[in-house]
Amino acid sequence: MHEVRAQVARVPVAFDPVKRVRAKDAVGQRVHLRGWVHRSRSSGGILFLTLRDRTGTVPVTIRKDAVGEDLFQAAEHVQLEGAVAVSGLVAEDPRAPGGREVRADQIEIIHAGEPFPIFKDQTEEFRLDKRHLAIRSQEFVQMFRLKAALLAALREFMTEEEVLEVTPPILTGNAAEGGAEAFQVDYFGRPGYLAQTAQLYLEAMLFPHERVYAVTPSFRAEKSRTPRHLTEYTHLEVELAWCDFEGLIDFTERMFVTVLHRLAARCPEELRALGRDPEELSRLTAPFDRISYKDAIELLQHQGFPVKWGSDLGTAEERALTLERSSPRWLTHFPVEVKAFYMLRTPGNPATVEAADLLGSEGYGEIVGASCRETDIDRLTERIKAVGASPADYEWYLDLRRHGSIPHAGFGTGIERILRWVTRREHIRDTTPFPRTPARHTP
Ligand code: 4AD
Ligand code: MG
Repeated sequence: MHEVRAQVARVPVAFDPVKRVRAKDAVGQRVHLRGWVHRSRSSGGILFLTLRDRTGTVPVTIRKDAVGEDLFQAAEHVQLEGAVAVSGLVAEDPRAPGGREVRADQIEIIHAGEPFPIFKDQTEEFRLDKRHLAIRSQEFVQMFRLKAALLAALREFMTEEEVLEVTPPILTGNAAEGGAEAFQVDYFGRPGYLAQTAQLYLEAMLFPHERVYAVTPSFRAEKSRTPRHLTEYTHLEVELAWCDFEGLIDFTERMFVTVLHRLAARCPEELRALGRDPEELSRLTAPFDRISYKDAIELLQHQGFPVKWGSDLGTAEERALTLERSSPRWLTHFPVEVKAFYMLRTPGNPATVEAADLLGSEGYGEIVGASCRETDIDRLTERIKAVGASPADYEWYLDLRRHGSIPHAGFGTGIERILRWVTRREHIRDTTPFPRTPARHTP
């Protein structure tokens, strides 16, 4: 007998017990299927189930006369998300979704289950309380398959580019991106912090490896209740030796174009189900448009935004800069004061830094923060003091500028920010299974 996955059948063959074929190719064969009840309807002695497993969903019909009165009744009482195993013949049926169904003559009830608490028209808060169950929906299934494919494609790109994956710490003794936004923990009586970035550690590892990256959780204790902020997110960070501003832009653009093209080719069904035509991703080409901070301020002033040189551009301003665009846009050369201490000043213009934020198209806002790093220990020390921090807290980081300091650059990108943009989600929490926001850190 064959074990059918909803989309993929398992056909036992000699020496290879789990050769997998599409269920539609199993038409006419006897199969075994197990999973969870996605839909259930009983009518005229026939039970119509839709069963879900990790490969998708498949319609199953169970006739009272095939399984007997008692088992049929028990099967009728299996709740949504109850677990069953069925055996039967795969039959072609033009009325069934996918054009085939399993006509079961055996059913085993593995867990009938309690009434599933999630259904249509419930509040978002309730769904967030029940997130551990809500993640079984087809929308979340597609989202997290896409997320896995995105991470895999990013790692693949890094391997091709000879960028080494490393494992920086999450528990740290200082707050790299600014003390106010770091979560503090009690580290055996001393203050510890949850990492906001792995950048400083990646910079250290760049000296032996030249090209390094990490995928880690990053934590931000910002009380920003915006649709694009999480307090915990998945951070991909890259650090490249010998890299200048143009090299940094070029690497990042190639990464996005390569990875999004591969997603379009590998996940067309997931993308379509989530509301993005894969063709739109296939059409993405580099270079992306660039606008300097200075020009952006002028443009925004014309549009009536109360901004001036030195303003930190927030959600509304970033939205205005890309709302009408179908391709991402770089925002470059910010004033020194609005950016982090480690950024390199622009050669010939000490008022700005060699930094660029990539803004997603259609108003989605920042998805990448990139910059060249300051290499000179004195200028770095001066910047640490200027932001009100103590150079003593960055002693090990300053040490990197004492031993073979070289030009280098890097960036960070939030995986959930990329996904929110790619799938056009209103809220970033839809791109992560258990979202952490100022209001919620459970379930
Ligand atoms: O711009 P950020 O703060 O830059 C850094 O942390 C650098 N040290 C990164 C580096 O150069 N290695 O954060 C980088 C990216 C942002 O562009 C955004 O995509 C994401 O991280 N991000 C967030 N994503 C979700 N929720 C938040 N609260 C985020 N804050 C930043
Ligand atoms: Mg940023």
